[in-house]
Amino acid sequence: MGIIEGERLRGDRSLNLLWQDTVVSKDDRSQAKGQKACCLWFTGLSGAGKTTIANLLDQTLHTAGQHTFVLDGDRCRTGLCSDLDFSDAGRMENIRRIAEVAKLMVDAGLIVIVSLISPLLAHREAARKIFDDGEFMEVYVNTPLTVCEARDAKGLYKKARQGLIREFTGVTAPYEAPVGAEIELNGRAHPDDLVKSIRLKLEEYGALEPPFG
Ligand code: ADX
Repeated sequence: MGIIEGERLRGDRSLNLLWQDTVVSKDDRSQAKGQKACCLWFTGLSGAGKTTIANLLDQTLHTAGQHTFVLDGDRCRTGLCSDLDFSDAGRMENIRRIAEVAKLMVDAGLIVIVSLISPLLAHREAARKIFDDGEFMEVYVNTPLTVCEARDAKGLYKKARQGLIREFTGVTAPYEAPVGAEIELNGRAHPDDLVKSIRLKLEEYGALEPPFG
């Protein structure tokens, strides 16, 4: 199973294609934006606070002059991924497409913030492999199911418990918590504080400075 998924995520139909580097490199584009491009990959249950934190981080970095973009599951599933369901295969393809788009955005020199439940370890590891070493940072928004369900901002947990939504993460579909995520957030803390801690990590990584000083 794992091997088949890995092959599919890498794109096994691309064997006769040749990748040609562009004259303007990723580093050139990052340098022009005064930052080191990377992908922050938010994972967590529905209602964990991923979108709220991702959007606040985006706004904070943008205001500080950084070049960012958010790729959010709910939004991508109305367009780029509107043909996909919530089966394991549907989620895998959702994650693959969004990881590939995020990779292109990193090549464009952006700090990309991806916000997806991405419940399975294997799918997240396959996403990580699409990026160059050190470019992918997993951000685990750790909010207990009981808290997410009590929030139930979209009313989906209630529907899932009534049997009206199939394969709902945390209820009738699994969520595999990250092991050794680069950043782990307590989803019950205030979003302002969480954004501050992510900024510190980005500073440590050097993302908020041009790569060549
Ligand atoms: S993922 O599992 O493929 O990563 P994604 O983040 O794109 O999921 O989409 C999750 C959002 O879709 C949830 O926040 C929720 O609003 C909605 N949703 C609808 N059906 C489901 C489901 N069965 N499981 C989880 N989320 C669902």
